[in-house]
Amino acid sequence: MRGLFTIKQLKTEQIYEIIEYAEKLKKGLRVSYPDKKIATLFFENSTRTHYSFQCALLNLGIKVLDFNTETSSVKKGESLYDTVRTFESFGVDGVIIRHSEDEYFKELEGVEMPIWNAGDGKANHPTQCLLDLMTIYEEYGKFEGLKCCIIGDISHSRVAHTNIEIMERLGMEVYISGPEEYNDGSAKWIPVDEAVKNMDVVMLLRVQFERHTEKMSMSIEEYHEKYGLTVKRMEMMKKNAIIMHPGPINRGVEMASEVCECEKSRYFKQITNGVYVRMAVISKVLDGEL
Ligand code: CP
Repeated sequence: MRGLFTIKQLKTEQIYEIIEYAEKLKKGLRVSYPDKKIATLFFENSTRTHYSFQCALLNLGIKVLDFNTETSSVKKGESLYDTVRTFESFGVDGVIIRHSEDEYFKELEGVEMPIWNAGDGKANHPTQCLLDLMTIYEEYGKFEGLKCCIIGDISHSRVAHTNIEIMERLGMEVYISGPEEYNDGSAKWIPVDEAVKNMDVVMLLRVQFERHTEKMSMSIEEYHEKYGLTVKRMEMMKKNAIIMHPGPINRGVEMASEVCECEKSRYFKQITNGVYVRMAVISKVLDGEL
């Protein structure tokens, strides 16, 4: 199969190439594919990834077909495979898919057009990871030796699972923190106050209630007090440290509203970088480089 499915499929040098290419696009490099049309198939809710991919397609001069699961034949029981093969039969040049099933793309063997994974269940979110890396690289010009702690609902997070592996591969020290009930052992666990004092990158995660099978053991207020990035905790951070969050943010839960807006926050910059990273991976797949 062709496309971008996981971050693991990328060699380290390809990750640097994507970031460099995204930076060139951000600085104004113009690339155009006026004869192409690509469909966005979002089977799970999204704002950033869905519309950032659509902005990226429009910036590349690509026509967008936006699939609506609610008004489609998915409601009549059509499978993911048959939906994707239908778009392939229309003659589209690729599809961008978000789905709640981990590794849904394994069902799509036999599809020949490119596929870009816009997030699968708790498993992968490769373009979020690339935009996070681009944002860190813009800040520090390197990855080697940087310390990052991901704080929050680790066990339900495809962002945490994707980022930990690649950040370690790039030479970063990665830690996790938050409520013990969300510790899945995917990196070394440290207390929140230790994390905020010592990290170069503090990455917050939303509590992903939609993936929970059991009720959270504490109230929202208790969560914010014990594990949230409050103004007091933000003031404990290192001078040049940055705050990141993949979004959507629940202000006043994992992060105080003022912290989201503070000068350490790179939240809105991450969203901007997402458009350029997605332009880069769309171009590279269409050009046969990925
Ligand atoms: N970061 C992210 O995937 O956000 P959306 O769910 O809004 O796309």
